[in-house]
Amino acid sequence: MLKRLPLARSRSKNEGSLKKLKRFLSKSMAQKIRKAVFPVGGLGTRFLPATKALPKEMLPVVDKPLIQYAVEEAAAAGIEEFVFVTGRGKQAIEDHFDISYELDQTLGARGRVDLVDTLRSWMPDPGQITYTRQMDPLGLGHAVWCARKYIDDEPFAVLLADDLVLADKPCLQQLIESYHTKPGNIVAAMDVLPEHTDRYGILDIEEDKGQLVSVKGLVEKPLRRNAPSNLAIIGRYILMPEVFEHLSKKNTGAGGEIQLTDALAKMVNSTPFYGLRFDGRRFDCGDKVGFLEANLAFALDRDDMKKAVERLVKSYT
Ligand code: G1P
Repeated sequence: MLKRLPLARSRSKNEGSLKKLKRFLSKSMAQKIRKAVFPVGGLGTRFLPATKALPKEMLPVVDKPLIQYAVEEAAAAGIEEFVFVTGRGKQAIEDHFDISYELDQTLGARGRVDLVDTLRSWMPDPGQITYTRQMDPLGLGHAVWCARKYIDDEPFAVLLADDLVLADKPCLQQLIESYHTKPGNIVAAMDVLPEHTDRYGILDIEEDKGQLVSVKGLVEKPLRRNAPSNLAIIGRYILMPEVFEHLSKKNTGAGGEIQLTDALAKMVNSTPFYGLRFDGRRFDCGDKVGFLEANLAFALDRDDMKKAVERLVKSYT
């Protein structure tokens, strides 16, 4: 009798998790990803003094601010509601996604319809963007948690504007397609140098199928010697709303911050979890060299600039 007890207990535990998994699958299978969270409260200290009065998300790559790339990527992937988690001094972002009547009028009067079109190239419908303030910069996990009321009980996307991806098919679209065949939490992933694991959330791989990887654990910014792999999380996520339950505990992790990675790590046993090695090239625009490289790559990708930039690059080599 005594011997059978643990067995019975573990069976009922398994049945419990099976039920949970079934409930999760039926709930999430058909659910479209309609909402995206953009954490834009960061201070941008790596770009001071440029970011003293200018939100780092407004830094331009060629002629478009980083945040616009992220929003356009989300819109192209079918996102309908955009939730910005902002902070003090970020008003320029709100103004950017609004109509500028003075500019429209002045440019119109000068016959520059082309520029008016550029200004309106992507504009949300009224009410499509929501802004909430993080108030305290307590970490990425905290920023995402601040969006909980707007997300409610449906799977959603998170995009970090610092991570800019040049791809034929938008990175978020790739994640969403993957999510529809394999529902669960899914993050964009990229192999990084082993000595760089301490810059990223790192995946503990259960099964590596080349592009799609199933994940059994995650660690935020581990040193090389403690890293479970060198497969890093890039700033694109599809997340199940249960993540808010874990974030609400406000546990702190690496750097004393409330880490999104830690909350996700708590979900691996109850929610399927994947990393997707996306097609495309990612630029770390939170880093000066990465930002410069993004400018080069995006300029070289444009027909109107390619030749001139190639000539310029040649003159430096
Ligand atoms: C954040 C995440 C980290 C992820 C990275 C991607 O870190 O916490 O897991 O790998 O974004 O850019 P941060 O760059 O904000 O320190």
